[in-house]
Amino acid sequence: MTNQHEKSIKGILLAGGSGTRLYPLTAVSSKQLLPIYDKPMIYYPLTTLMLAGIREIMIISTPHDIPQIKRLLGNGSDIGMKFDYCVQPKPEGIAQAFVLAEEWLDASPCALVLGDNLIFASHLSQLLQKAVQRKSGATIFSYQVSDPERYGVVTFDENGKVTQIVEKPKDPPSNWAVTGLYFYDSRVTEYAKKIKPSARGEYEITDLNKIYFENDNLHVERLGRGCAWLDAGIPASLMQAGNFVQMIQARQGILVGSPAEVAYHRGFINAEQLRAIAKKLNKTDLGRMLMDVANEGFNQK
Ligand code: G1P
Repeated sequence: MTNQHEKSIKGILLAGGSGTRLYPLTAVSSKQLLPIYDKPMIYYPLTTLMLAGIREIMIISTPHDIPQIKRLLGNGSDIGMKFDYCVQPKPEGIAQAFVLAEEWLDASPCALVLGDNLIFASHLSQLLQKAVQRKSGATIFSYQVSDPERYGVVTFDENGKVTQIVEKPKDPPSNWAVTGLYFYDSRVTEYAKKIKPSARGEYEITDLNKIYFENDNLHVERLGRGCAWLDAGIPASLMQAGNFVQMIQARQGILVGSPAEVAYHRGFINAEQLRAIAKKLNKTDLGRMLMDVANEGFNQK
């Protein structure tokens, strides 16, 4: 057992990469700032971390994109958060994030989310709480997809226990893709340092997960039918994500991926602070919906 119990969990939002699969959309702009319907992409993974109750987040991105992301998100104080920024000089893989953030992490447990991942589920807060409360090991999430070769893939035995985890297999052993949301205990940096670059020259997150798996400490939560996991990595999935958000918001009148709304419902900010944010957006449906939340508590928690 480690002494991590004292430390609260921190979050890393990885918004790196050159977005080559979205060229020319990403030729000049950061992929994570492209719109998913009415919000910048980065809002969605940010709210996922916030729903896990995480208030301290390190945003890691390229030297080119960090200034723009900073302009959008600032230091987080307007939504009761604390954001720090870190440059990943070269896109050398997701697992490198833990080494870059080592000092900042200061041996805290940590959640990492990829800046292009959108998870929508009615019981997401509860799922995330379960991962946060696990004091030892790693928790990852998997989701059935029709194109598993694009992702990390896990297999399970008949008791639901993980039997294998592989990165982008040519011949996928299952349809269970690994999503871009990961929770780790305080050993994460120590393990991340053990990883060697893969054939594509990256410190693979799957190799990190393999270390936890080999230590019999990798927990995989399967996201079932009631959940949506979308990544906005290629033009078609970017469009699908936008359509999805538009559809849910219009049909249900609830917001998806609004950091201000989550901050309010989690008690990070009060109604007056939310109103101030909503006012700045008063020409938009998003602003009007936020105002409704502040005034009437209309939106569901
Ligand atoms: C990364 C991971 C992969 C994971 C995916 C989720 O892939 O390497 O294991 O399934 O994110 O979005 P990338 O998008 O960097 O190719």
